[in-house]
Amino acid sequence: MSNNRVSRRQFLSYTLTGVGGFMAAGMLMPMVRFALDPVLQKHEGGDFVLTEQKIADITEAPIKVDFTFEQVDAWYKADVTNTAWVYKDGDVIVALSPVCKHLGCMVDWEHKDGNKNEFFCPCHAGRYTKNGGNIAGTPPLGPLDEFEVQEKDGYLMIGPSKPNTLV
Ligand code: FES
Repeated sequence: MSNNRVSRRQFLSYTLTGVGGFMAAGMLMPMVRFALDPVLQKHEGGDFVLTEQKIADITEAPIKVDFTFEQVDAWYKADVTNTAWVYKDGDVIVALSPVCKHLGCMVDWEHKDGNKNEFFCPCHAGRYTKNGGNIAGTPPLGPLDEFEVQEKDGYLMIGPSKPNTLV
């Protein structure tokens, strides 16, 4: 007789532990996967959004162009509408972010008399040149961000934002 024999009590204990563990894993795995799946999924970043703005209608005067995209924040999906200030500089289309680089208010084009040919932030009187550059002596310390742009069938597409390359 060997000393390594498993008693009936031990056999039952091992079996129940194994079966119990297997059943628990079977119940927990779908829950864990459900909880983590949105976080682990790869999302295509930097997609371009088609706007209703005809390229032909864009002039040298900045206009507001709205664009809507689906924003996924882990488990939460929402349609978000963003805005760009769009104008033509020669043949180049420029799209600037309206978000002031001081504290994040929305800038306006030629907001008041005296702000001709400038972007103006009404929160703390921040001022920017047409290409988004800072005007010295006003609170913002960085230029307005730019959006990447593309054309599709004569309409403007707006892509991800990037640091200003115009100033
Ligand atoms: S938030 Fe624009 S100047 Fe302060």
